[in-house]
Amino acid sequence: MTATRGLEGVVAAQSSICSIVDGVLCYGGINIDELAENATFEEVVYLLWHGALPKRDQLEALTKELGANAAVAPEVIDSIRSYPAGVHPMAALRTAVSSLALYDAEAQDMSKEANYRKSIRLLAQTPTLVASFARIRKGLEPVQPNPEFTVAQNFLYMLSGEVPTETAVKAFDTALILHADHEFNASTFAARVSVATLTDIYSGVVSAIGTLKGPLHGGANEAVANMLGEIGGTANVESYVREKLDNKEKIMGFGHRVYKDGDPRAKWLRAMSKELTAQIGRPELYEMSVKTEEMVTGEKGLKPNVDFYSASVYVALGLETDLFTPIFAISRMSGWTAHIMEQYENNRLIRPRADYTGPVNQHYVPIDQR
Ligand code: ACO
Repeated sequence: MTATRGLEGVVAAQSSICSIVDGVLCYGGINIDELAENATFEEVVYLLWHGALPKRDQLEALTKELGANAAVAPEVIDSIRSYPAGVHPMAALRTAVSSLALYDAEAQDMSKEANYRKSIRLLAQTPTLVASFARIRKGLEPVQPNPEFTVAQNFLYMLSGEVPTETAVKAFDTALILHADHEFNASTFAARVSVATLTDIYSGVVSAIGTLKGPLHGGANEAVANMLGEIGGTANVESYVREKLDNKEKIMGFGHRVYKDGDPRAKWLRAMSKELTAQIGRPELYEMSVKTEEMVTGEKGLKPNVDFYSASVYVALGLETDLFTPIFAISRMSGWTAHIMEQYENNRLIRPRADYTGPVNQHYVPIDQR
């Protein structure tokens, strides 16, 4: 038995949700470019969950259900009030999503119908949890979700208490579409491994949130924002990047396991970054990002991934840096739940083997003879 490091190139299962072929990303066979240009996040959610775009009445029904299920059990909001000061929002989200299960009468119901209803609740309530935590830690009262709003509108509304502008909603909705699914990425795979034991959907998404948190995965968008802050200005990019590369340190937001010729999501976020940073009068954020891309691509041949330009997009939308990865989770909840439901439909325990490299033929030695 020989191991494949990081399971690179290993095809772990069949899936009909999302494909990446020759660098082209599709959800349900539809190119992400067409979806980013034309779809709403709710349409994409329906596509991921049902394998086809919704008809008008189906979309209206899903949007309504998401709005109607966005409020979170008051006990969960109260428990967020008791989280220690200074905890990272991803740690808070991991705990808060786990505690949703405690107040869900269907938490242990493994029927297909109950798992679909729980997927709606998870997707609808994750933005409420993130926004509530963000306000509570500042000493503010959470804002109740508006059942008439879309996911993007509601999240921005619950964060600030003000109805967001159309421009902000459109940009945020597109970001949600671009992050919604990505076949067997680390967090989705963690969710699938988890539920393949036939544990409940909440356990699956909590595994996924913990996995997304890492800086090599979803945590990279926050790391990019911190990096842009450290660089400080376009004039400093060259020395910053050179020093990092000389020290064999990674530049966050670059490189990808699957895309070697560029992440198809990055161009959308780059364009949004240009537009939004100009609108808020901070074009240098975009210029610094472009200069960093030129340097890293020139020196290492590495292209930006989804996390690189999303950082300046979220900064331009006025979002707090440590909320960037929870925002990723708000979107990816759609993909995680789609994959969990698909795994349940055709389940087999996921249990690979290890290529053992430790000592052999050892014997037990009594403790006073060691
Ligand atoms: N900066 C500098 N060098 C890099 C980077 C980077 N961002 N990414 C890869 N490399 C280098 C590695 O050092 C390695 O060089 P070597 O062969 O000289 O040792 C080579 O490129 C291959 O890199 P690996 O880490 O082996 O590639 P892998 O496929 O395992 O990792 C990953 C992919 C984790 C995304 C990696 O590119 C990385 O760490 N990037 C930075 C973190 C990041 O942006 N993560 C978000 C990914 S997208 C997402 O999850 C949503």
